[in-house]
Amino acid sequence: METVWLNPRERSVLPDPVVSDTEVGRVEAFYRSRPKLKPTPLHRIRGVAEELALGEVLLKDESNRFGLNAFKILGVLYAFHRIMEARSSGGTPIVACASAGNHGRAVARAAREFGFAAKVYLPAGTVPARVEDITGEGADVVVTDFGYEGSVRQVARDAEREGWLIVSDTSWPGYNEVPRWIMAGYTWMLTEAQAQWAPLPVPDAVIIQGGVGGLVCAGASWFAQRYGANRPFFIAAEPTAAPCLLESARIGRPAVVQEQDTMMTCLRCAEISPVIWPVLTHAVDAVVTVDDERAAWAMRRLARPSAGDPEVVAGASGACGLGALQAIMCHDAFRSVRDRASLGPRSSILVVNTEGATDPALYRSVVGD
Ligand SMILES: Cc1ncc(COP(=O)(O)O)c(C=O)c1O
Repeated sequence: METVWLNPRERSVLPDPVVSDTEVGRVEAFYRSRPKLKPTPLHRIRGVAEELALGEVLLKDESNRFGLNAFKILGVLYAFHRIMEARSSGGTPIVACASAGNHGRAVARAAREFGFAAKVYLPAGTVPARVEDITGEGADVVVTDFGYEGSVRQVARDAEREGWLIVSDTSWPGYNEVPRWIMAGYTWMLTEAQAQWAPLPVPDAVIIQGGVGGLVCAGASWFAQRYGANRPFFIAAEPTAAPCLLESARIGRPAVVQEQDTMMTCLRCAEISPVIWPVLTHAVDAVVTVDDERAAWAMRRLARPSAGDPEVVAGASGACGLGALQAIMCHDAFRSVRDRASLGPRSSILVVNTEGATDPALYRSVVGD
Protein backbone atom coordinates (compact mmCIF):
# COMPACT_ATOMS: atom_id res chain seq x y z
CA MET A 1 0.00 0.00 0.00
CA GLU A 2 1.22 3.49 -0.82
CA THR A 3 2.09 5.25 2.34
CA VAL A 4 3.83 8.27 3.87
CA TRP A 5 6.13 9.05 6.79
CA LEU A 6 6.44 12.56 8.15
CA ASN A 7 9.50 13.44 10.16
CA PRO A 8 8.33 14.42 13.67
CA ARG A 9 11.56 16.37 14.28
CA GLU A 10 11.64 20.14 14.01
CA ARG A 11 14.20 21.37 11.50
CA SER A 12 17.48 21.24 13.31
CA VAL A 13 21.15 21.57 12.63
CA LEU A 14 22.54 18.45 10.98
CA PRO A 15 24.70 16.77 13.62
CA ASP A 16 26.55 14.76 10.96
CA PRO A 17 26.13 15.87 7.35
CA VAL A 18 27.60 12.51 6.10
CA VAL A 19 28.73 14.35 2.95
CA SER A 20 30.86 17.14 4.36
CA ASP A 21 31.12 20.64 2.95
CA THR A 22 34.84 20.10 2.48
CA GLU A 23 34.18 17.04 0.33
CA VAL A 24 31.56 18.93 -1.68
CA GLY A 25 34.17 21.64 -2.27
CA ARG A 26 36.59 19.02 -3.58
CA VAL A 27 33.88 17.68 -5.89
CA GLU A 28 33.33 21.18 -7.26
CA ALA A 29 37.05 21.60 -7.89
CA PHE A 30 37.19 18.19 -9.57
CA TYR A 31 34.32 18.80 -11.97
CA ARG A 32 35.12 22.47 -12.61
CA SER A 33 38.54 21.39 -13.83
CA ARG A 34 36.86 19.10 -16.39
CA PRO A 35 34.77 21.49 -18.52
CA LYS A 36 34.37 18.86 -21.23
CA LEU A 37 32.01 17.05 -18.84
CA LYS A 38 28.96 19.10 -19.74
CA PRO A 39 26.03 19.86 -17.39
CA THR A 40 22.75 18.05 -17.85
CA PRO A 41 19.69 20.24 -18.52
CA LEU A 42 17.33 21.63 -15.91
CA HIS A 43 13.91 21.89 -17.57
CA ARG A 44 10.96 24.01 -16.51
CA ILE A 45 8.03 21.71 -17.24
CA ARG A 46 5.19 24.18 -17.34
CA GLY A 47 2.53 21.75 -18.59
CA VAL A 48 3.05 19.47 -15.58
CA ALA A 49 3.07 22.45 -13.19
CA GLU A 50 -0.25 23.58 -14.60
CA GLU A 51 -1.76 20.11 -14.51
CA LEU A 52 -0.76 19.60 -10.87
CA ALA A 53 -1.75 23.16 -9.86
CA LEU A 54 1.79 24.11 -8.88
CA GLY A 55 3.72 27.26 -9.63
CA GLU A 56 6.83 25.66 -11.09
CA VAL A 57 8.14 22.14 -11.69
CA LEU A 58 11.86 21.95 -12.38
CA LEU A 59 13.26 18.69 -13.72
CA LYS A 60 16.97 17.96 -13.58
CA ASP A 61 17.35 15.50 -16.43
CA GLU A 62 20.12 12.95 -15.88
CA SER A 63 19.10 10.71 -18.78
CA ASN A 64 22.27 11.58 -20.68
CA ARG A 65 24.88 12.24 -18.00
CA PHE A 66 28.37 12.30 -19.50
CA GLY A 67 27.18 10.10 -22.38
CA LEU A 68 25.66 7.41 -20.13
CA ASN A 69 21.95 7.03 -19.47
CA ALA A 70 21.91 7.51 -15.69
CA PHE A 71 23.31 9.86 -13.05
CA LYS A 72 25.53 7.25 -11.40
CA ILE A 73 28.74 8.14 -13.24
CA LEU A 74 28.84 11.41 -11.27
CA GLY A 75 29.60 9.56 -8.07
CA VAL A 76 31.81 6.88 -9.57
CA LEU A 77 34.17 9.20 -11.47
CA TYR A 78 34.77 11.26 -8.36
CA ALA A 79 35.28 8.15 -6.21
CA PHE A 80 37.85 6.79 -8.68
CA HIS A 81 39.67 10.10 -8.50
CA ARG A 82 39.72 9.96 -4.69
CA ILE A 83 40.79 6.31 -4.71
CA MET A 84 43.73 7.16 -6.97
CA GLU A 85 44.69 10.09 -4.72
CA ALA A 86 44.56 7.90 -1.62
CA ARG A 87 46.51 4.98 -3.11
CA SER A 88 50.08 4.84 -1.94
CA SER A 89 51.22 1.88 -4.02
CA GLY A 90 51.21 1.64 -7.81
CA GLY A 91 49.75 -1.19 -9.82
CA THR A 92 46.33 -1.41 -11.36
CA PRO A 93 43.68 -2.90 -9.15
CA ILE A 94 40.75 -4.95 -10.33
CA VAL A 95 37.65 -3.10 -9.22
CA ALA A 96 34.38 -4.80 -8.36
CA CYS A 97 30.86 -3.89 -7.34
CA ALA A 98 27.30 -5.13 -7.12
CA SER A 99 24.58 -3.15 -8.83
CA ALA A 100 21.03 -3.22 -10.12
CA GLY A 101 22.61 -2.00 -13.36
CA ASN A 102 23.31 1.72 -13.49
CA HIS A 103 26.06 1.87 -10.89
CA GLY A 104 27.70 -1.17 -12.50
CA ARG A 105 27.71 0.45 -15.90
CA ALA A 106 29.26 3.59 -14.41
CA VAL A 107 31.95 1.55 -12.66
CA ALA A 108 32.65 -0.32 -15.90
CA ARG A 109 32.98 2.97 -17.83
CA ALA A 110 35.20 4.63 -15.23
CA ALA A 111 37.37 1.51 -14.90
CA ARG A 112 37.93 1.52 -18.65
CA GLU A 113 38.92 5.19 -18.54
CA PHE A 114 41.32 4.61 -15.65
CA GLY A 115 42.72 1.43 -17.22
CA PHE A 116 41.41 -1.03 -14.61
CA ALA A 117 39.64 -4.35 -15.08
CA ALA A 118 36.12 -4.43 -13.60
CA LYS A 119 33.79 -7.14 -12.27
CA VAL A 120 30.12 -6.28 -11.91
CA TYR A 121 27.70 -8.50 -9.99
CA LEU A 122 24.04 -8.17 -10.95
CA PRO A 123 20.94 -9.59 -9.24
CA ALA A 124 19.22 -12.70 -10.60
CA GLY A 125 16.70 -11.78 -13.27
CA THR A 126 18.57 -8.70 -14.57
CA VAL A 127 17.36 -8.01 -18.11
CA PRO A 128 19.81 -8.82 -20.94
CA ALA A 129 19.95 -5.16 -22.08
CA ARG A 130 21.57 -4.16 -18.77
CA VAL A 131 24.06 -7.02 -18.94
CA GLU A 132 25.00 -6.04 -22.50
CA ASP A 133 25.42 -2.38 -21.57
CA ILE A 134 27.98 -3.37 -18.93
CA THR A 135 29.86 -5.98 -20.94
CA GLY A 136 29.88 -3.38 -23.73
CA GLU A 137 32.00 -1.18 -21.45
CA GLY A 138 34.50 -4.03 -21.15
CA ALA A 139 33.63 -5.33 -17.67
CA ASP A 140 33.05 -8.96 -16.65
CA VAL A 141 29.49 -9.53 -15.47
CA VAL A 142 28.36 -12.11 -12.94
CA VAL A 143 24.59 -12.56 -12.65
CA THR A 144 24.15 -13.96 -9.15
CA ASP A 145 21.45 -16.24 -7.75
CA PHE A 146 20.41 -13.50 -5.34
CA GLY A 147 18.65 -10.15 -5.18
CA TYR A 148 20.55 -6.88 -4.76
CA GLU A 149 21.64 -7.35 -1.14
CA GLY A 150 22.75 -10.94 -1.76
CA SER A 151 24.81 -9.73 -4.72
CA VAL A 152 26.43 -7.07 -2.54
CA ARG A 153 27.42 -9.75 -0.03
CA GLN A 154 28.71 -12.13 -2.69
CA VAL A 155 30.93 -9.54 -4.33
CA ALA A 156 32.28 -8.50 -0.92
CA ARG A 157 33.24 -12.12 -0.17
CA ASP A 158 34.79 -12.70 -3.60
CA ALA A 159 36.68 -9.41 -3.49
CA GLU A 160 38.13 -10.26 -0.09
CA ARG A 161 39.35 -13.61 -1.39
CA GLU A 162 40.68 -12.28 -4.72
CA GLY A 163 42.06 -8.96 -3.52
CA TRP A 164 39.75 -6.83 -5.70
CA LEU A 165 38.98 -3.25 -4.80
CA ILE A 166 35.29 -2.74 -4.05
CA VAL A 167 33.67 0.41 -5.40
CA SER A 168 30.24 0.16 -3.80
CA ASP A 169 27.56 2.82 -3.67
CA THR A 170 26.08 1.21 -0.58
CA SER A 171 27.88 1.02 2.76
CA TRP A 172 28.13 -1.60 5.50
CA PRO A 173 29.78 -1.63 8.91
CA GLY A 174 33.46 -0.92 8.35
CA TYR A 175 32.99 0.11 4.72
CA ASN A 176 31.82 3.65 4.17
CA GLU A 177 34.63 5.78 2.76
CA VAL A 178 33.99 4.97 -0.89
CA PRO A 179 30.18 5.27 -0.55
CA ARG A 180 30.74 8.74 0.98
CA TRP A 181 32.90 9.77 -1.99
CA ILE A 182 30.25 8.46 -4.36
CA MET A 183 27.52 10.42 -2.59
CA ALA A 184 29.72 13.52 -2.61
CA GLY A 185 30.10 13.14 -6.39
CA TYR A 186 26.31 13.14 -6.79
CA THR A 187 26.11 16.63 -5.29
CA TRP A 188 27.59 18.04 -8.49
CA MET A 189 24.15 17.71 -10.12
CA LEU A 190 22.78 20.08 -7.46
CA THR A 191 25.62 22.54 -7.83
CA GLU A 192 24.80 22.57 -11.54
CA ALA A 193 21.07 22.89 -10.84
CA GLN A 194 21.63 25.84 -8.49
CA ALA A 195 23.34 27.78 -11.27
CA GLN A 196 20.57 26.76 -13.67
CA TRP A 197 17.50 27.66 -11.62
CA ALA A 198 18.76 31.22 -11.00
CA PRO A 199 17.23 33.79 -11.24
CA LEU A 200 14.29 31.75 -9.95
CA PRO A 201 14.33 31.34 -6.16
CA VAL A 202 15.45 28.18 -4.40
CA PRO A 203 12.71 25.54 -4.85
CA ASP A 204 10.20 25.19 -2.00
CA ALA A 205 10.35 21.39 -2.11
CA VAL A 206 12.59 18.71 -3.56
CA ILE A 207 11.66 15.11 -4.32
CA ILE A 208 14.39 12.53 -4.85
CA GLN A 209 13.92 8.79 -5.33
CA GLY A 210 15.86 6.27 -3.30
CA GLY A 211 17.17 2.75 -3.59
CA VAL A 212 19.66 2.40 -0.74
CA GLY A 213 19.34 6.15 -0.17
CA GLY A 214 22.68 7.41 -1.46
CA LEU A 215 21.25 10.09 -3.74
CA VAL A 216 18.64 11.05 -1.14
CA CYS A 217 21.41 11.51 1.40
CA ALA A 218 23.57 13.52 -0.99
CA GLY A 219 20.65 15.78 -1.86
CA ALA A 220 19.26 16.27 1.64
CA SER A 221 22.71 16.92 3.06
CA TRP A 222 23.55 19.41 0.30
CA PHE A 223 20.36 21.42 0.77
CA ALA A 224 20.62 21.37 4.57
CA GLN A 225 24.20 22.63 4.49
CA ARG A 226 23.59 25.28 1.81
CA TYR A 227 20.33 26.72 3.10
CA GLY A 228 20.06 25.72 6.79
CA ALA A 229 16.63 26.46 8.29
CA ASN A 230 15.53 27.99 4.96
CA ARG A 231 16.15 24.82 3.04
CA PRO A 232 13.42 23.32 0.83
CA PHE A 233 11.05 20.69 2.21
CA PHE A 234 12.84 17.46 1.32
CA ILE A 235 10.86 14.38 0.26
CA ALA A 236 12.34 10.94 -0.46
CA ALA A 237 10.31 8.65 -2.75
CA GLU A 238 10.64 4.91 -3.26
CA PRO A 239 8.57 2.01 -4.61
CA THR A 240 5.81 0.55 -2.42
CA ALA A 241 7.43 -2.76 -3.31
CA ALA A 242 10.73 -1.89 -1.60
CA PRO A 243 10.09 0.56 1.22
CA CYS A 244 13.40 0.35 3.10
CA LEU A 245 13.78 4.11 3.62
CA LEU A 246 10.23 4.51 4.89
CA GLU A 247 10.37 1.47 7.16
CA SER A 248 13.72 2.51 8.61
CA ALA A 249 12.50 6.05 9.27
CA ARG A 250 9.29 4.69 10.80
CA ILE A 251 10.91 2.25 13.24
CA GLY A 252 13.83 4.54 14.07
CA ARG A 253 16.66 2.26 12.93
CA PRO A 254 17.82 0.68 9.66
CA ALA A 255 15.20 -1.92 8.70
CA VAL A 256 15.30 -4.96 6.45
CA VAL A 257 12.18 -5.20 4.30
CA GLN A 258 10.91 -8.03 2.14
CA GLU A 259 11.00 -6.45 -1.32
CA GLN A 260 8.57 -7.43 -4.07
CA ASP A 261 8.63 -7.13 -7.79
CA THR A 262 8.58 -3.62 -9.25
CA MET A 263 9.45 -2.13 -12.61
CA MET A 264 11.52 0.43 -10.69
CA THR A 265 14.25 -2.21 -10.50
CA CYS A 266 17.05 0.19 -9.56
CA LEU A 267 15.12 1.16 -6.44
CA ARG A 268 14.41 -2.42 -5.44
CA CYS A 269 16.46 -2.51 -2.24
CA ALA A 270 15.67 -4.29 1.01
CA GLU A 271 18.13 -2.29 3.15
CA ILE A 272 19.32 1.29 3.30
CA SER A 273 22.97 2.21 3.15
CA PRO A 274 23.58 2.52 6.91
CA VAL A 275 25.95 5.48 6.58
CA ILE A 276 23.04 7.73 5.49
CA TRP A 277 21.24 7.40 8.82
CA PRO A 278 21.98 10.84 10.36
CA VAL A 279 20.77 12.60 7.20
CA LEU A 280 17.66 10.45 6.82
CA THR A 281 16.58 11.34 10.35
CA HIS A 282 17.61 15.04 10.40
CA ALA A 283 17.32 16.39 6.86
CA VAL A 284 14.58 14.34 5.17
CA ASP A 285 11.14 15.78 5.99
CA ALA A 286 8.98 13.04 4.48
CA VAL A 287 9.26 9.67 2.79
CA VAL A 288 6.56 8.45 0.42
CA THR A 289 6.16 5.10 -1.27
CA VAL A 290 4.51 4.91 -4.68
CA ASP A 291 3.20 2.16 -6.95
CA ASP A 292 4.53 1.39 -10.40
CA GLU A 293 1.55 3.18 -11.99
CA ARG A 294 2.83 6.51 -10.65
CA ALA A 295 6.16 6.03 -12.40
CA ALA A 296 4.33 4.89 -15.55
CA TRP A 297 2.27 8.11 -15.49
CA ALA A 298 5.46 10.17 -15.22
CA MET A 299 7.22 8.24 -18.00
CA ARG A 300 4.31 8.87 -20.36
CA ARG A 301 3.84 12.48 -19.30
CA LEU A 302 7.50 13.25 -20.00
CA ALA A 303 7.41 11.38 -23.31
CA ARG A 304 4.35 13.34 -24.45
CA PRO A 305 4.87 16.84 -23.12
CA SER A 306 2.53 19.80 -23.34
CA ALA A 307 3.19 22.25 -26.17
CA GLY A 308 6.40 24.15 -25.51
CA ASP A 309 7.78 21.68 -22.95
CA PRO A 310 10.71 19.41 -23.79
CA GLU A 311 10.31 15.70 -24.51
CA VAL A 312 12.20 13.73 -21.86
CA VAL A 313 13.03 10.01 -21.82
CA ALA A 314 12.68 8.62 -18.29
CA GLY A 315 13.17 5.02 -17.22
CA ALA A 316 10.94 3.63 -14.48
CA SER A 317 13.31 4.35 -11.60
CA GLY A 318 14.09 7.72 -13.13
CA ALA A 319 10.43 8.69 -13.19
CA CYS A 320 9.70 7.75 -9.56
CA GLY A 321 10.14 11.28 -8.15
CA LEU A 322 7.80 12.92 -10.65
CA GLY A 323 5.31 10.08 -10.15
CA ALA A 324 5.47 10.78 -6.42
CA LEU A 325 4.81 14.48 -7.03
CA GLN A 326 1.69 13.63 -9.00
CA ALA A 327 0.53 11.31 -6.20
CA ILE A 328 1.19 13.96 -3.55
CA MET A 329 -0.76 16.63 -5.43
CA CYS A 330 -3.68 14.50 -6.59
CA HIS A 331 -4.38 11.74 -4.06
CA ASP A 332 -5.83 11.85 -0.59
CA ALA A 333 -3.43 9.26 0.83
CA PHE A 334 -0.67 11.88 0.42
CA ARG A 335 -2.59 14.88 1.73
CA SER A 336 -0.53 15.09 4.93
CA VAL A 337 2.66 15.58 2.90
CA ARG A 338 1.04 18.14 0.62
CA ASP A 339 -0.17 20.09 3.66
CA ARG A 340 3.05 19.84 5.66
CA ALA A 341 5.05 21.04 2.65
CA SER A 342 2.41 23.73 1.92
CA LEU A 343 2.36 22.79 -1.74
CA GLY A 344 0.08 24.90 -3.90
CA PRO A 345 -0.16 27.21 -6.90
CA ARG A 346 2.79 29.34 -5.81
CA SER A 347 5.15 26.49 -4.96
CA SER A 348 8.17 25.51 -6.94
CA ILE A 349 9.34 21.88 -6.87
CA LEU A 350 12.56 20.26 -8.01
CA VAL A 351 12.49 16.64 -9.19
CA VAL A 352 15.25 14.58 -10.80
CA ASN A 353 14.94 12.18 -13.71
CA THR A 354 17.75 9.84 -12.69
CA GLU A 355 17.83 7.62 -15.79
CA GLY A 356 16.83 7.31 -19.42
CA ALA A 357 15.52 4.17 -21.13
CA THR A 358 17.98 1.81 -19.42
CA ASP A 359 15.58 -1.07 -20.14
CA PRO A 360 14.36 -0.25 -23.67
CA ALA A 361 11.79 -3.09 -23.82
CA LEU A 362 10.18 -1.94 -20.58
CA TYR A 363 10.25 1.66 -21.78
CA ARG A 364 8.43 0.73 -24.99
CA SER A 365 5.89 -1.36 -23.12
CA VAL A 366 5.03 1.59 -20.86
CA VAL A 367 5.29 4.51 -23.26
CA GLY A 368 4.56 2.86 -26.62
CA ASP A 369 6.60 3.35 -29.78
C1 LIG B 1 18.03 5.37 -11.93
C2 LIG B 1 18.29 5.37 -10.47
N1 LIG B 1 17.63 6.24 -9.71
C3 LIG B 1 17.82 6.29 -8.38
C4 LIG B 1 18.69 5.42 -7.76
C5 LIG B 1 18.80 5.45 -6.27
O1 LIG B 1 20.07 5.66 -5.80
P1 LIG B 1 20.46 5.13 -4.35
O2 LIG B 1 20.58 3.64 -4.44
O3 LIG B 1 21.73 5.83 -4.07
O4 LIG B 1 19.35 5.50 -3.45
C6 LIG B 1 19.39 4.48 -8.53
C7 LIG B 1 20.32 3.54 -7.91
O5 LIG B 1 20.89 2.68 -8.53
C8 LIG B 1 19.19 4.46 -9.92
O6 LIG B 1 19.85 3.61 -10.71
